[in-house]
Amino acid sequence: MAYGIWPKASFMRILAFETTCDETSVCLLDGDRLLSNVVFSQISLHRKYSGVVPELASRAHLENISRVLGAALSKAGYKRPFFRNGRLSGPKIDAVVFSRGPGLPGALLVSRVAAETAAGLLGAKLLGVDHLEGHFLACELSGRRVSRLIQFPCIGLIVSGGHTELWKAEGYGRYKTLGRTRDDAAGEAFDKVAKLLGLGYPGGPAVEKAALKAAPGGEGKKGFVLPRPYMEDSFDFSFSGLKTAVAYRLRDLLGPDFYQKRLRLSPAGQSGLCLAFEEAVADTLAHKTAKACAALGIERVVVGGGVSANLRLRRKLTELFPGPAGPRVSFAETRYCTDNAAMIALCGARRLERGVSKGPLDIAPDLAEASWS
Ligand code: KG4
Ligand code: ZN
Repeated sequence: MAYGIWPKASFMRILAFETTCDETSVCLLDGDRLLSNVVFSQISLHRKYSGVVPELASRAHLENISRVLGAALSKAGYKRPFFRNGRLSGPKIDAVVFSRGPGLPGALLVSRVAAETAAGLLGAKLLGVDHLEGHFLACELSGRRVSRLIQFPCIGLIVSGGHTELWKAEGYGRYKTLGRTRDDAAGEAFDKVAKLLGLGYPGGPAVEKAALKAAPGGEGKKGFVLPRPYMEDSFDFSFSGLKTAVAYRLRDLLGPDFYQKRLRLSPAGQSGLCLAFEEAVADTLAHKTAKACAALGIERVVVGGGVSANLRLRRKLTELFPGPAGPRVSFAETRYCTDNAAMIALCGARRLERGVSKGPLDIAPDLAEASWS
């Protein structure tokens, strides 16, 4: 993908909060420079449940948010801020941005309250933005800089733990949802399959690691061929049947009480099933993305969200557009695929530089509409 450069006019300093699921993150963005981006993951807290427990997640965000904010400020080089005349003196911040959803209601409230408090004390603008737009914009981050502008129009593929969506993106804030999952999100399916196979949490990296151990061309051997849920009549996705298909293969191998016996599965069986599952998910996502590109005559794709860290998916999507014209599929750097505040700050920056400084401030636990211009 061809990239532009960050508009010179952007000199805003933005403080951003992200607590939609199981990462507590705060960042400071100064124009195109990321001064800090602290991410505190709750993985160890949720691991024993093989999934995120919402109530535990909200409490942990509440316990950690001040510490993560302090770390983000000090990493950005700011000394301890202090009060004077009821105002917080310290860094000059133009806007405080928070992720208003979609996400877990209790978890969202933590960012909302923290951001409102910070904005009030700092005398800064307060902006609520969409978490999925954050995943979409994350590919503009390169190291500690915002240096790779998205070229529009493009197809956006958002693949995270809670969402799987295909967008037509015409410009910043101008997104049309073409399709979304009707049941499990891609990341959710990875997490559930990992649980079925007795692998760790989060499931995506665990399944990817196991699949790497499968013999080359392993899919097909041992009958591990899984269906491709293409649903040709729409751009929607469905991954819950794929997860069930993995359960059926497991039952064939281990018998009806397969769940109790899952840890007895041979390493070859485990890696073979992981490879077959990963192939099926990657094929499905690439197929729908290619279909959207063809239907709309668009040859640029922007991919974001935790699942976009998956190397097999990256390869399949990159292969969509072979040829000398250069890569047309853009991914967020691995560190920016999963939840982080930097992508949220970027959402705020894009709005502010277009003169949009108002918007809903209420939290939106369910699917919010990302478009804003
Ligand atoms: O975007 P994200 O941090 O959270 C949500 O907004 O939901 O995505 C987390 C999801 C988890 O389901 C995790 O298993 C998945 O992303 N994930 C991966 C990989 N890394 C994280 N899935 C497949 N392959 C990976 N390498
Ligand atoms: Zn996310």
